[in-house]
Amino acid sequence: MRITVKSTLLILASALMLQSCGGGQVSTVGSDQETEKRIESILSRMTLAEKIGQMNQVSAGGDVASYAEALRKGQIGSVLNEVDPEKVNELQRICVEESRLGIPLLVARDVIHGFHTVFPIPLGLAATFDPALVEQGARVAAVEASAQGVRWTFSPMLDIARDPRWGRIAEGSGEDTYLDARMAEAMVHGYQGRTPDSTSVAACIKHFVGYGAAEGGRDYNSTFLTERQLRNIYLPPFEAAVRAGAQTLMTSFNDNDGVPSTGNAFVLRDVLRDEWGFDGLVVTDWNSMGEMVSHGFGTDRKDVVAKALAAGVDMDMMTFGFISHLEDLVRSGAVSEKAIDNAVRNILRVKLLLGLFENPYVDVEASRAVQYAPAHLEAACRTAEASAVLLKNDNGVLPLDSGEVRRILVTGPLADAPHDQLGTWSFDGEKDHTVTPLAALRERFPGKVDYVPGLRYSREERERFDDVVAAARRADVVIAFVGEEAILSGEAHCLSNLDLIGSQSALLKALRASGKRVVAVVMAGRPLTIERDLPNCDALLYSFHPGTMGGPALARLISGDAVPSGKTPVTFLRTVGQVPMYYNHNMTGRPYNNERLLKDIELEAGQTSLGNTSYYLDSGAAPLFPFGFGLSYTGFAYSGARLDKDAYSPSDSLSISVTLSNTGKYDGAEVVQVYVRDLVGSVTRPVKELKYFEKVWLKAGESRELSFSIPVSELAFWGLDGRKKVEAGDFLLWVAGDSATGEPIPFKVL
Ligand code: NOJ
Repeated sequence: MRITVKSTLLILASALMLQSCGGGQVSTVGSDQETEKRIESILSRMTLAEKIGQMNQVSAGGDVASYAEALRKGQIGSVLNEVDPEKVNELQRICVEESRLGIPLLVARDVIHGFHTVFPIPLGLAATFDPALVEQGARVAAVEASAQGVRWTFSPMLDIARDPRWGRIAEGSGEDTYLDARMAEAMVHGYQGRTPDSTSVAACIKHFVGYGAAEGGRDYNSTFLTERQLRNIYLPPFEAAVRAGAQTLMTSFNDNDGVPSTGNAFVLRDVLRDEWGFDGLVVTDWNSMGEMVSHGFGTDRKDVVAKALAAGVDMDMMTFGFISHLEDLVRSGAVSEKAIDNAVRNILRVKLLLGLFENPYVDVEASRAVQYAPAHLEAACRTAEASAVLLKNDNGVLPLDSGEVRRILVTGPLADAPHDQLGTWSFDGEKDHTVTPLAALRERFPGKVDYVPGLRYSREERERFDDVVAAARRADVVIAFVGEEAILSGEAHCLSNLDLIGSQSALLKALRASGKRVVAVVMAGRPLTIERDLPNCDALLYSFHPGTMGGPALARLISGDAVPSGKTPVTFLRTVGQVPMYYNHNMTGRPYNNERLLKDIELEAGQTSLGNTSYYLDSGAAPLFPFGFGLSYTGFAYSGARLDKDAYSPSDSLSISVTLSNTGKYDGAEVVQVYVRDLVGSVTRPVKELKYFEKVWLKAGESRELSFSIPVSELAFWGLDGRKKVEAGDFLLWVAGDSATGEPIPFKVL
């Protein structure tokens, strides 16, 4: 949703940009006439070889000397994975002082959810439903990374994921297009800064596109998304990020409907450049250009180099294809130098916007001081707190009453696993700076904590838990930290079984049998299938790998110093066999109608039918927890939800009011969510789609009248005629605390 004032400002800002570019073209990355002039001036002095050099990105390997000569000759435009500020300065010095044209280097790194201070994994960031908090986290990451010379991060990952088997679900915002788009904007603003300066780090939106729809949830696998699915579900977060000013974009590894993304001119040229006007830098994924040969999309490297350039790629990450073949291809006339000039313009534009020409070096001493700054750790703690999702809390077992509790047993393989709580892609996070739940609980409850790990790691198989059970009997309450280590999610780390692995479920069962109150904390990179574990705990707190300050954040939640406010950014399944199950599915012709499960019916001999609707005989039609769900220690009630009108024109805005009351004993935050259903369309429409959310803090007992406005244009979609528009007709709207509750309010679009 866009508030009126904000959209007015946006329109004004684009009008100003239009003027400043002079040529009538709006630069999506914020370039102006002066910058464009400088680009042309540099370009006019470059040889073909120097241009191609700018298009070459290599990974730093060990010694600077090993590639100093290539830098000197202008054969490298960007280096990834060099984070030592002294070495970065040395690389820049060679480029700026010893290469013919003195073009500085773009130093890149996967700073995915924090640099040294690690924040929750992106799926956890999405669970906060708090874009301002997420922007702040990205800003912290940018301040720390830029201080060491990293001015380009390969983040945010905007791949919609409807399959938790896919390990990279950890790296994105989950299954919803709207939530993903809001998180995308927040991260772009955070990394690049609202006002560009020397702490700005260029964002790289990835992986373009459809990568999260890998068949079977197996990484790198093919996708088969129709153009309508791409346009309605997968592309909008990228478009939102482009509109927010994202300076770079990465192509994906997958082939969609037979076309590898790195050679896909439809998405890279027609959509990204021509429709959205993107004038930033397009980089391949690691060797994804070369891999087009493995896909069988080209005969050899030279062939795929020409295809990638034609599709709109500007920079080659680690195929060494441009540097090896482009010159030949130009000489033979297979590729035009004009295409190369355009790519180089896009690269120089980012370097100029980052101010690298003016200021290529970092202050090594100062760079140390900002890492793990107290304000950064504080922000990481607040974010980890906001990202935990309370899924069960019987009889208010949480928060623990510190006055009443005398002995606490802490157990489980994730209780004291500093590296694992950082999650996937935390190259620069250090375990010595990480505070585990065990350490934090010992500090919060001095002298009251016993620790018996039970399992050393999640995969361990164990028959008996006598030591843990004996300790549980001596305690008032047990807190079991289970889940999966960082290595079990992330790139290439996919699973075909999503139950707690090893003997973790058996551990919970044994603890339950001790008769003591059991609190389970699940730390994981994905929504695991925890249905069988729910009966074995009184409370369950789900913490997507929470980062450096995960321990203190969880201790604060457990003790009631903080109140849970996270919501599921993805549907939690009962069993992996339900994949794909997501809240915004289309309606079948035979919707589920409360049929019974196989286990609840007595089959008669010769029975041939159990009904004809869409569900699984053994696991039903509902997930374990719906999208947008999460409990609090306090309670929230919605009343009087209404719209200002019952019919709207396409240029109107829906004005929604609702009274939200905090009905419990704790101050807390609720994520108010607005869903819409378009009842009849030229093509079938999802049963619900999130169109707005806002995290609202209320004091215990407080009630507040809230109002939101959603432009009717937000209801537009790509219909049968292949155009995006709002189709007139009947709609329903829900205002609720998750995607499965609330009373529908009807309205019309005329
Ligand atoms: C491969 C991954 O797919 C991508 O996300 C990452 O940014 C690059 N490698 C660089 O490390």
